[in-house]
Amino acid sequence: MSYDLVVIGTGPGGYVCAIRAAQLGLKTAVVEKRKTHGGTCLNVGCIPSKALLHASHMFEEASHDFAKMGIGVSAPTLDLARMQAFKQEGVDGNTKGVEFLLKKNKIDAFNGTGRIAAPGTVEVKAEDGSVTTLETKNIVIATGSDVAPLPGVTIDEKVVVSSTGALELAQVPGKLLVVGAGVIGLELGSVWRRLGSEVVVVEFLDRILPGMDGEVAKQFQRMLAKQGFTFKLGSKVTRVEQGKKGATVTIEPAAGGEDETLEVDVVLVAIGRVPYTNGLGLAEAGVETDNRGRVVVDGHFRTSVPGIYAIGDVIAGPMLAHKAEDEGVAVAEILAGKAGHVNYDVIPGVVYTFPEVAAVGKTEEELKEAGIAYTVGKFPFTANGRAKVNQQAEGFVKVIADAKTDRVLGVHIVGAEAGEMIHEAAVLMEFGGSSEDLARTCHAHPTRSEAVKEAALAVEKRAIHM
Ligand code: FAD
Ligand code: NAI
Repeated sequence: MSYDLVVIGTGPGGYVCAIRAAQLGLKTAVVEKRKTHGGTCLNVGCIPSKALLHASHMFEEASHDFAKMGIGVSAPTLDLARMQAFKQEGVDGNTKGVEFLLKKNKIDAFNGTGRIAAPGTVEVKAEDGSVTTLETKNIVIATGSDVAPLPGVTIDEKVVVSSTGALELAQVPGKLLVVGAGVIGLELGSVWRRLGSEVVVVEFLDRILPGMDGEVAKQFQRMLAKQGFTFKLGSKVTRVEQGKKGATVTIEPAAGGEDETLEVDVVLVAIGRVPYTNGLGLAEAGVETDNRGRVVVDGHFRTSVPGIYAIGDVIAGPMLAHKAEDEGVAVAEILAGKAGHVNYDVIPGVVYTFPEVAAVGKTEEELKEAGIAYTVGKFPFTANGRAKVNQQAEGFVKVIADAKTDRVLGVHIVGAEAGEMIHEAAVLMEFGGSSEDLARTCHAHPTRSEAVKEAALAVEKRAIHM
């Protein structure tokens, strides 16, 4: 069988790349080793985690927040099996949707493990051992990433779990120890805390959410602590001993010193993810990888071998579904002779906890390090009418603008619905807009988004409601 393009992996990078390529008239095939399409994101990542975050948030709201609005309900009960089924229905709906889209776009889908036998040749090994050979002008590697292991600790996905096991627990752990205060640790820690777990987070650094704006991370940590999270920052887990029920965890200060032990029911290892290239035959094909195992690409997603490209979690950059998708579109457009491009300066990041944290562009720390002079405008949700009346007034919006040109360089939000609100900042930044542009844009009242406008006004110290 002969194609213009074979994409290996149907996560958000791969399936979006295939659809865009087919739209542009390229004869396209995809190879996927999972039974379902959608990759990490749809099967064991973004989608199931958001289903559990939504359901557990509803559970918490019904437990604590209805009464203050005069809504009387008896204390909600938890049917975890049904909640897990709700999650799976959402996952199935999404993965089937991708299957439909691939068919609709006349993309051939091969189920099995893909290996690059040579430039222009992909072998697909099915579960029954049979091998199909695909000839193709171009190959896109979109094989994603896998859980980063914690040295000396075995993940059994029951007592010591990765994010995959943490999405599948059949019982609410009495005590959950999370290793790593990154996005996965805080999102899945939130799910289980809301459902009744005592959650302790051990983080190597002296802060949570490295990479996010420091002020935002600090305030957000306080909010999580108020919800019941316990943080052990500047600490590392040196040993996990599994017992019949639960585990004994040894924790040491990162800088050295006396250790302590904790008895817990479940340990979630969430210390990052690593690119996944097992069995692809990269070395034999001559495809270069870097010292972190990532496929090396140039500005046009070309690897070291002509005709082989790579996108998504398997290359450098933030490990985010929308970054993978945009790279998929860009490489398909490049292959079709168009000018595909990704603007890495404007990739939003969202932590889907309550409240949410959302950011786009530079942090204050990054600007200080780069020696760029900037001005900051901040506006708290306590001064926003809608947030106040809904009694969801925690958090703030921060707009950072270039001190000389007023061009917006970064926007950071902590607060309910931050993940939806960040996109007006992303659009503004794509068009090189200034804080004045944002401040002069009429915002509907009463909305939480008015806080974005007010933060932009605050850059010039002229916020109205503060
Ligand atoms: P993947 O989605 O990992 O897909 C790669 C696919 O390739 C897989 O299906 C795999 O089976 C297949 N594959 C690998 N090797 C082969 C082979 N040799 N042959 C055939 N098939 C192969 N990101 C967000 O933006 N928002 C979120 O809310 C979010 N939540 C997350 C929550 C969790 C718990 C996790 C773990 C991740 C989350 N992410 C989130 C990250 C997001 O899932 C990834 O950034 C995204 O899936 C990367 O897409 P990808 O296409 O590069 O790779
Ligand atoms: P992460 O990189 O976000 O966080 C890992 C944390 O673990 C860091 O704070 C790091 O300092 C800490 N750490 C590393 N080694 C440690 C050790 N030995 N002991 C204690 N702490 C240690 O990684 P995470 O949370 O595993 O997520 C993986 C990827 O998945 C991220 O890159 C993220 O982009 C993506 N993701 C995105 C989501 C979103 O967009 N909402 C949700 C979940 C995951």
